[in-house]
Amino acid sequence: MEKIPLLGLGTWKSSPNQVTEAIKAAIDLGYRHFDCAFIYNNEKEVGEAIEQKIKDGTVKREDLFIVSKAGDDDLPKDQNGMIIASETDYLNTWEAMEDLLSEGLVKAIGVSNFNHKQIERLLNKPDLRYKPTNNQIESHPFLTQEKLINYCHSKGISVTAYRPLGGTSDIFNEPIIKKIAEKYNKSAAQVLIRFHIQRNVAVIPKSVTPSRIKENFQVFDFELAKEDMDALLSLNKNLRLAQFPGAENHKDYPFNIEY
Ligand SMILES: NC(=O)c1ccc[n+]([C@@H]2O[C@H](COP(=O)([O-])OP(=O)(O)OC[C@H]3O[C@@H](n4cnc5c(N)ncnc54)[C@H](OP(=O)(O)O)[C@@H]3O)[C@@H](O)[C@H]2O)c1
Repeated sequence: MEKIPLLGLGTWKSSPNQVTEAIKAAIDLGYRHFDCAFIYNNEKEVGEAIEQKIKDGTVKREDLFIVSKAGDDDLPKDQNGMIIASETDYLNTWEAMEDLLSEGLVKAIGVSNFNHKQIERLLNKPDLRYKPTNNQIESHPFLTQEKLINYCHSKGISVTAYRPLGGTSDIFNEPIIKKIAEKYNKSAAQVLIRFHIQRNVAVIPKSVTPSRIKENFQVFDFELAKEDMDALLSLNKNLRLAQFPGAENHKDYPFNIEY
C-alpha cells in the first residue's frame, strides 16, 4: 500500500507566478506531498518546480507523493454547464482510474468529497478492482468530521484534510485555538495542522509565502495533550466552508447527509 506523507502543500489559488518558488522552497524544507489539480491552472508551473528539484539532486521522483484530480471535462453537462452525470458516468471514471493504476501510471487512486454512503456504494461495486486509498475532505476544528474519518479508517481508507486553516475565515482568532497556541508557544496555524497529524489524518495547508511554508512544516516538535485535542474537537459546528455553490441541487451532492 502506497504511503501518503502526513503533511503536504496545497496549491489551490497559488498563482502560477508564485507557485514555482513555493514548491521549490517546500521541497527544500522537506515537504514530499503536493496537492494539485488541473483546474487549479498552475500544474505546469508546479511540474517545472518539481523537475528543477529533481535535476539539482534535492529529491527523487519516487520520494514525492503528488496528487492530481480527474477533471469533469468529460462528464455530461446541461445547457448551463451544470454536471448532469449519472452514477454510471462516475463509475466509468473510477474504472478509468483503475486502469491507470493497473498500468502503473499512478501509485494510488482515491476520491474527494465523498460521503460515507458514496464510499459504501463504491466499495460494493461488484467488479471493483481497487478500493480508494484516500478520501480528501474539508476538515478543521469547526468541521471535525469525526464520523466520516472513523468510517474511512475502519475501511482502511486514509483521509486528507483540506482547508485546514479555514481558507480566509477567522478560525485563527478563535479564543480556544489562540490559547492552545500560546500554551505550546506555537502559531494558531501550527496547532490547526498538528490537530490532524495526531488524528492520523493527512493535511495540506496551502501557502505561497516562504515563511509560512516553513512555519507550517514545524509541527513535528510538539504534541497536543489529550485535553487540548478534546477542546479542539469540541469546537465542531459542522461549518462547511467549501460548499460548491451551484451544485446543491445535483442528486449526488455529497453534503446533504450527516456524514
Ligand atoms: N478536494 C477539494 O475539493 C479541495 C477543496 C479546497 C481545497 N483543496 C486543497 O486543499 C488545499 C488547502 O486548502 P485551502 O487552500 O482552501 O485553504 P487553507 O490551506 O486552509 O488556507 C490557505 C490560506 O491560509 C494562508 N496561510 C497559510 N499558512 C498560513 C500561516 N501559517 N499563517 C497565516 N495564514 C496562512 C494562505 O495564505 P498565503 O498563501 O498567502 O501564504 C492562504 O490564504 C488547497 O490549496 C487545495 O490544494 C481541495
